[in-house]
Amino acid sequence: MSTETLSDVEDDAPEFIPATSEGKPPHSEIDISSKAFWTQTSEEREQKFKLLRETDPVSWQRPVEDAVTPDPDDPGYWAVTRHADIARVSRDNETFISGQGVLFDLLPTIFLEMTQSFLAMDPPKHDDLRRLVSSAFTPKQVKRLEQQIKTAAREIVDSFASDPAGAEGELDFVERCAERLPARLFCDMFGIPEHLREATVKGAGDIVAWADPDTLAGRPADEVQVEAAATLHEIAEELIALRRKEPGEDLFSSLLDAEVDGRKLDDFEIGAFFVLMSVAGTDTTKHTSSLTVRAMTQFPSEKEYLKEDFDGRIKVAVEEFVRFASPVMTFRRTAMKETELGGKKIVPGDKVVMFYPSGNMDTDVFADPETFDLSRDPNPHVGFGGGGAHFCLGNQLAKASLTALFRELLTRIPDIEAVGEPRLLGTNFMRGVKSMKVRFTPEGK
Ligand code: HEM
Repeated sequence: MSTETLSDVEDDAPEFIPATSEGKPPHSEIDISSKAFWTQTSEEREQKFKLLRETDPVSWQRPVEDAVTPDPDDPGYWAVTRHADIARVSRDNETFISGQGVLFDLLPTIFLEMTQSFLAMDPPKHDDLRRLVSSAFTPKQVKRLEQQIKTAAREIVDSFASDPAGAEGELDFVERCAERLPARLFCDMFGIPEHLREATVKGAGDIVAWADPDTLAGRPADEVQVEAAATLHEIAEELIALRRKEPGEDLFSSLLDAEVDGRKLDDFEIGAFFVLMSVAGTDTTKHTSSLTVRAMTQFPSEKEYLKEDFDGRIKVAVEEFVRFASPVMTFRRTAMKETELGGKKIVPGDKVVMFYPSGNMDTDVFADPETFDLSRDPNPHVGFGGGGAHFCLGNQLAKASLTALFRELLTRIPDIEAVGEPRLLGTNFMRGVKSMKVRFTPEGK
């Protein structure tokens, strides 16, 4: 029987409809498109989001300032700030599609094709690809992963718990802990050999940090991004060729075998999925764990509450880690049908951007949202998206990683606390922490 790849299947993506300024109100005076807005802290940004939720929950905004590839014809976008509207846009995958881009910023097309895989596709092609990829996570793979998560969390905490470097017993939590766990799991999952690990992790980091001056070091953002995506594709190509000859236990080997309804993935699709996972699966969890250590420092009684009964309370608490951190700040859709949202008329071609941190602070859903409350239950946050076809595929893995890491931290160095202010990433996509000092009593002292 011949197997076709998904690329052979006709793509019935809807035609591109250009966005128009016709019939639109003036751009909102509560401006969330400026570069300055995205270099503020999330607490500062929340003041504007709150105002928008209360006065203009679906506001018409000017185009993003300093877009990577600016479009002179771009009229702007609708900013969706309330929880209910974010859920509606996320779940109505016929009216609001992903196939014409999901990022708030305007990025080079070649880069998007190389990096986004089914994140930027629509049903049915999206569903076929997501099913195919999910089928590669066999029960055997998942079992291995669970073990790998526990071992990795223990070894990473082992590497610094008894001996914090530096004169004051302080260390950078991001470098020594937060970034290590997801990077190691991602590399283990795909069976990345030791000599390629550093390049893989750097490539993934460069892709999400596109507007950050430290990452760019004076180079244009599109150049840095395309280079990083190309490096990751080269790594994928090398490993696909290797696994084709010598299959192993890793995800590349399973992806080569995965088949749904007589269809298989081609090499480019595997490469693009690898890049999507390198970004989706690493920085998100890294930033959530740093932001959670900070939140526990700001709300010490919550840390005590969790420590009292870690196993009994972590399942509920980990949802609050994600709500409070909201590391993924924006995703976009494009309207394909005329509809009304938050009292505004949306027409085909309009860009619609969801602001997850705003939805996670919506008082219609969360009582006292500015409080980090580890007993918050239910906790219908939109940190993993607002539901629908694109809901985070890795949410279970992310929660398992955070659980394993905080079990190690809170049992072995329970007085760990953030010192001073963290250094933040200046982008409009990821709420990221570049570095954050922590202090604790070394284990066994
Ligand atoms: C705290 C950690 C994480 C957060 C906050 C997060 C957040 C998100 C968000 C907001 C989306 C888009 C949802 C939408 O458009 O409706 C998403 C999609 C996705 N995430 Fe995560 N994520 C996390 C961890 C992970 C991990 C660990 C993996 C993989 C190992 C992963 C893989 C994916 C994939 C593949 C998608 C695309 C799903 C699709 O388009 O069907 N994520 N994630």
